[in-house]
Amino acid sequence: MNWIALILLICLIIFGVGFLIADLFRTNSELKAGAAQKGKTRIKIIGGCGKDGRREPVVEVDFEMGTIVSIVGPTGSGKTALINDIELYANGNTPTKRKVLINGVSPSDEFSGDPSHNPIALITQHTNFLSDLPVEKFLSMHAKIRQGDAGEPIVQDTLNFANQLTGESINPRVKMTELSGGQTRALLIADAVVIGNSSILLLDEIENAGINRTKALDMLKNYEKIFIFVTHDPRIALLSDFRIVMKNGAMREIIKTDEQEREVFEEIRKIDDLILDFRQKIREGERIAKYELDERIDALKVG
Ligand SMILES: Nc1ncnc2c1ncn2[C@@H]1O[C@H](COP(=O)(O)OP(=O)(O)OP(=O)(O)O)[C@@H](O)[C@H]1O
Ligand SMILES: [Mg+2]
Repeated sequence: MNWIALILLICLIIFGVGFLIADLFRTNSELKAGAAQKGKTRIKIIGGCGKDGRREPVVEVDFEMGTIVSIVGPTGSGKTALINDIELYANGNTPTKRKVLINGVSPSDEFSGDPSHNPIALITQHTNFLSDLPVEKFLSMHAKIRQGDAGEPIVQDTLNFANQLTGESINPRVKMTELSGGQTRALLIADAVVIGNSSILLLDEIENAGINRTKALDMLKNYEKIFIFVTHDPRIALLSDFRIVMKNGAMREIIKTDEQEREVFEEIRKIDDLILDFRQKIREGERIAKYELDERIDALKVG
């Protein structure tokens, strides 16, 4: 009798361990398959706590491919902390206690630590390059690591993309450390989209970086990715599918952009274009005449 019980116990342990191992394999292969099948990556954020330690009002948020999301809120409200949670695949181990799931599971360290599997690219508020390689060398090295392809076309595509985002064209032979702030951000965005082929892009306040927002939004919309913008810019916020409103470290509310806001967006686009044109004139050392402004405002009223 005792022997039968012992044999049964051994069988149970073997099955139990077997299932556990199978589950572990499933989790990791699901993640890798998810990352490999671009277009299928989904993220879920499970809410944690605000700065006051109380549970945040938004319990969970889902992001699907092709979604543009903005994170808005006053300075210090936790916008950067939220995208850092996403980039770090937070698992209750950051001050916010949030959890991030990719394709329904919590990514393993191996997954997040391996750049060739990592689907996330973060363009930070403060970007400095440590590499003093020339731009073209840097891009071709990255292309080789990411895609096994260090060829001229992909490097050229990346430079073309970047040059459409920034006012000053990038010389491929200058060192990465010699690029201006705007050029650096433009190159990082282009690199993440074209070479990195990242499915999730986190962009922290690109509006202050000398990036052409109209161009950036128009170009990025053509890519089936998840774009998450931290922004104070109504134009970016209203173009998003929804926005997460932050307050005191917590996700307070989710606002879906409705039809009325889409109409407001069109008007803001015109006003913003006007301001951008005047900014450009000032940059180029020109004077602004009052009649020019009056004419543009009249045209806005008619249009
Ligand atoms: N839920 C939280 N729990 C604890 N600390 C938090 C939480 N959220 C944010 N913080 C901390 O609060 C500080 C300000 O947050 P953060 O830098 O994310 O603000 P921000 O909205 O990005 O501000 P800015 O617009 O100035 O860039 C940081 O030190 C951050 O670590
Ligand atoms: Mg910030």
